[in-house]
Amino acid sequence: MFFNTFLAFVAASSSAFLHAHAHGTITGVTGANGVQAAGFGIIASTPRDGSTPIPFEQDTSVIRDIEIQSGKTGVCGRTAAGGNNDVASQLAAASQAGLPTAAGDGSVSMTLHQVNQDGAGPYTCEVSGDGGNTFQAATVTQQVPGTLGLSLAKATNFSLVAQMPAGVACTAGPNGDACIMRCRNPALAGPFGSCVAVASGTATGNTTAAAAAAPAAAAPAAASAAGTTATGAAAGTTAADTAAPATDAATAGGVKGLLSKLKGLAGNKATARAPAKRHIVSRVAGKRSGYWLDNQ
Ligand SMILES: *[C@@H]1O[C@H](CO)[C@@H](O)[C@H](O)[C@H]1NC(C)=O
Ligand SMILES: *[C@@H]1O[C@H](CO)[C@@H](O)[C@H](O)[C@H]1NC(C)=O
Repeated sequence: MFFNTFLAFVAASSSAFLHAHAHGTITGVTGANGVQAAGFGIIASTPRDGSTPIPFEQDTSVIRDIEIQSGKTGVCGRTAAGGNNDVASQLAAASQAGLPTAAGDGSVSMTLHQVNQDGAGPYTCEVSGDGGNTFQAATVTQQVPGTLGLSLAKATNFSLVAQMPAGVACTAGPNGDACIMRCRNPALAGPFGSCVAVASGTATGNTTAAAAAAPAAAAPAAASAAGTTATGAAAGTTAADTAAPATDAATAGGVKGLLSKLKGLAGNKATARAPAKRHIVSRVAGKRSGYWLDNQ
């Protein structure tokens, strides 16, 4: 009996941990405007009915903070088939195809395709209105099942819905109306997930007015920093999760408010290095992704 259990564990673990590939990706975005799109790096012809690395993992993204900081990838990571997801060109392609819009409450409805075990949830989502220079925590209102990025599901589609915080101004892409929604899970071999491009539609209403809320940018930088504090993906995501509910406090009370909220929620471990990392994240993300105009 013990031996059988052990074998089952080994079978699950080898598939879940030993393949250094990407196992969960966003194959669909359904806009409130009816536009259907997909995540960055998605190859439409990839079959979705299997769970082996080739070909099923070829267009799923690994999005690691450490690789973003080092400049190895942009803020949207890389895929096996396409390499670095170049944010500017992905935004351009998405805008040309037509951007799906968020719902009136800022919700973005996505299809998360779990290729195999470590593409499971929970996913953490963030939104960037400036082409990836800064991110703000989004609220995941429909989650993919899983624990620490693991579950037994494979070749399965799940609905993933994330709500943009109020006041995000989508100003990226060639038409100046795109936001990037980035969702990642905490898998040890990942994090896995995708970036998708969306327009706010009616969600934020007057983006000119929303853009005036610029001081809120302190919150995403600190939140991203919290997400990168730990080198282990699981711990990093825990920190990011913790940062998410703190965004409101940060918006109201600045970085000080965020930090005190974080301390209360997560203890000193998650917060200790957040201030030091803050600049690194902003600077490197800025260097790789650039404001849209810088890339032209
Ligand atoms: C999952 O979604 C993809 C596209 O997003 C589709 O090609 C595939 O057929 C779907 N699979 C199932 C089982 O519905
Ligand atoms: C948007 O808000 C700004 C600032 O409040 C205002 O000047 C502008 O007229 C508004 N635009 C529209 C289309 O309502």
